[in-house]
Amino acid sequence: MQPQVVQVPLPILLLPSLLLHIFIPLTHPKSTIEPCNSSDSCLSLLYYILPYDSKLSEIAYRFQANISDILGANSIAPTTLGDQIFETKSIFKVPVSCSCVDGIRRYMSTTYTVRPADTADSISEGFGGFVSAEQIKSSNGINATNPLMSGQSLVIQLPCTCFGNVNNGIPAVYMSYVVKIGESLDNIATEFGTTTMELEGINGLGQPVVNPGDILSIPISACSSANLKWYKESLIVANGSYALTASSCIKCVCGPNDFNLRCWPSGIAPLCYDQLRCKDSDLFIGDSLVHKTPFGCKVTSCIYRGHNGGKIYRR
Ligand SMILES: *[C@@H]1O[C@H](CO)[C@@H](O)[C@H](O)[C@H]1NC(C)=O
Ligand SMILES: *[C@@H]1O[C@H](CO)[C@@H](O)[C@H](O)[C@H]1NC(C)=O
Ligand SMILES: *[C@@H]1O[C@H](CO)[C@@H](O)[C@H](O)[C@H]1NC(C)=O
Ligand SMILES: *[C@@H]1O[C@H](CO)[C@@H](O)[C@H](O)[C@H]1NC(C)=O
Repeated sequence: MQPQVVQVPLPILLLPSLLLHIFIPLTHPKSTIEPCNSSDSCLSLLYYILPYDSKLSEIAYRFQANISDILGANSIAPTTLGDQIFETKSIFKVPVSCSCVDGIRRYMSTTYTVRPADTADSISEGFGGFVSAEQIKSSNGINATNPLMSGQSLVIQLPCTCFGNVNNGIPAVYMSYVVKIGESLDNIATEFGTTTMELEGINGLGQPVVNPGDILSIPISACSSANLKWYKESLIVANGSYALTASSCIKCVCGPNDFNLRCWPSGIAPLCYDQLRCKDSDLFIGDSLVHKTPFGCKVTSCIYRGHNGGKIYRR
């Protein structure tokens, strides 16, 4: 099914961060609405450019994301430690659980504890411009009589989209993206392997024009376990990333060329070793063996089939 998108007049919610409107006149930021049910949430990504040097664990804490999920989404070695520091301007695709807030709009919600030197602008910048200073103030009742207080806990909502994790009938994960100064819709489409028309459609743009600070939803092709007949498990993995599953025993990768989900032992979890070999076979999960027979070749494979209650299924 095609995602249903509607152009909405933009409330104060999506004003660009102050940092940006020092340089540019106020424009008409775009967003996407998506009819949704409060019970459903999905995997979504935030394209986050580090505003300052940060430990991996700080990024995870900020977005209430799981460190191993962040490593997977960015194809960084699963053994990387949380105290590893990444430099300003490093780019992370932060995996978030995107939930339905008011029936038509999706957000991931996190909280932020105000520090002594913080302003609404610095907090907005810390969240990569996914939430504006105005939004932070309005959703937390901050004004001249109720200023930000050090130690105060703020609710922060960052826009995300799901669209059923499909795009043109193909599995997809949607990524929120803050338009930077000097970027056009064409640039962005090219960078992420999509088209201007597609971005216009998904984001409900009336014309192929974007402005700095606008937040776009960008489809990233993905691999899904949907047609693999997994038992008690479903998984969606964006192009160019991996996911750990079955208590980190199994690593699944989305191949960039054929868009098949391929899974094999992760090698990082010792407790699953006796569950990684197929029955009556020398093959481990992910292995294939080609036998030459008088009638041609026969391939035997040992394939991951999902997991449940500590048991790994394979065949
Ligand atoms: C919400 O859930 C109900 C019941 O499960 C379903 O009929 C309806 O189509 C859902 N709406 C959306 C927008 O997904
Ligand atoms: C992160 O995710 C992995 C795999 O799903 C899980 O085993 C681990 O407990 C999670 N860690 C945290 C801190 O939630
Ligand atoms: C600030 O907000 C409070 C309620 O949150 C309201 O009572 C007060 O009048 C507001 N002050 C100003 C200056 O807008
Ligand atoms: C998948 O990602 C690779 C880089 O990891 C990129 O070269 C390729 O164009 C992407 N494919 C699609 C369909 O987005």
